[in-house]
Amino acid sequence: MDNNKSWIDQRFPLTKVWNEHLAEYYTPRNFNFWYFFGSLAMLVLVMQIVTGIFLTMHFKPDAANAFASVEYIMRDVDWGWLIRYLHSTGASAFFIVIYLHMYRGLLYGSYKAPRELIWILGMVLYIALMAEAFMGYVLPWGQMSYWGAQVIISLFGSVPFIGPDLLIWILGDYAVGDPALNRFFSLHVIALPLILVVLVFLHIVALHTVGSNNPDGVEIKKNKDKDGIPKDGIPFHPYYSVKDIVGVVVFLMIFSSVVFFAPAMNGYFLESANFVVANPLKTPDHIAPLWYLTPFYSVLRAIPPMFGSQFPGVVGMFAALLILLALPWIDRSKVKSIRYRSWPYKVALGVFVISFIVLGWLGMQPVTPLNALLARVFTVAYFGFFILMPWFTSIGKTKEVPTRVTE
Ligand code: HEM
Repeated sequence: MDNNKSWIDQRFPLTKVWNEHLAEYYTPRNFNFWYFFGSLAMLVLVMQIVTGIFLTMHFKPDAANAFASVEYIMRDVDWGWLIRYLHSTGASAFFIVIYLHMYRGLLYGSYKAPRELIWILGMVLYIALMAEAFMGYVLPWGQMSYWGAQVIISLFGSVPFIGPDLLIWILGDYAVGDPALNRFFSLHVIALPLILVVLVFLHIVALHTVGSNNPDGVEIKKNKDKDGIPKDGIPFHPYYSVKDIVGVVVFLMIFSSVVFFAPAMNGYFLESANFVVANPLKTPDHIAPLWYLTPFYSVLRAIPPMFGSQFPGVVGMFAALLILLALPWIDRSKVKSIRYRSWPYKVALGVFVISFIVLGWLGMQPVTPLNALLARVFTVAYFGFFILMPWFTSIGKTKEVPTRVTE
């Protein structure tokens, strides 16, 4: 045993891990606003787990009692309303944070080599998060829980050959009911949170293996001093651990104003139909998922059925999601950051962001002939961004990237 080490360090690499990942982990010194969202995503994940544990203590995963148990939490459990609103607002906050985090990746080309695996793990996280949110929304067993689940799960029935059997396998029944609620509960409270935590760990391990990108897209490891420390690097702790606290405080101010003053957010965070208990005999006038899933829901609705089957729309919807995985390989640009990119990329990124937002908005609206046309136009624009990417990232004049970060 090395007696110069503390009792714990002789038995566990505490100081080693602390130094390697915090006190002597060198991070680019030019992080800006866009670099707050990774740590905020971790904060929201922890918040969702903690509030979820307390909700689970009072929730009843049973079609006959689920809705009433949520009402009980809201009215009778001490601070139950707060725990529930923290959790429901937390779900939307999670997606706001994640969308900004992903957009940062597009702005600064963070998915490009050597960070492909960070991006892929991020995408798996995003998909797992969507599944987690979808199943969570079913649990209160309101009208939209029930009918949203009915619409989304019935899509699996359109898979050729195996569809009908697949549907029964997923539901454990012929319709959405008690078995579905029970298994969604189990997946929502244990399986997916566990997967999310493991994925976040892997995401960070991959990040710390190659190091962070930054707003200039300069690789700081290429420029080290005589001690082997990147000249443009500063230790994560205390510099960014303290800076991240600023982000946390601002985030919590905005987050708590929503929790306390507008938890339903005018139907965007909690739909009004979900304050009515599920009724399998009465379809709501208008069924739409929550805002964070609507861009993909729009793609689904934009693609017309073929031979009476919705399958092409389902394929389109999953393609819209999975195509993001291809980014590291279809982006041919020599530069990473938007600061030095050519104008065709800037225009394309603008069109992509507008398409995503418009598709999201359309997904919340009833289908009218004009909305259907718009959804098709913007679906084409959305896919166009990816299909044309190898071309527009290899044309136009890029600016020279400096050897050192600029701020
Ligand atoms: C629960 C979800 C997630 C958590 C907790 C998380 C956490 C983090 C953290 C703490 C960082 C380092 C700090 C930062 O750069 O902001 C990071 C970096 C990164 N994340 Fe995530 N992340 C999540 C989801 C995602 C998703 C969905 C994507 C993309 C599909 C993604 C892509 C990236 C990339 C590319 C980086 C490196 C960025 C750079 O160095 O410029 N992450 N993530």
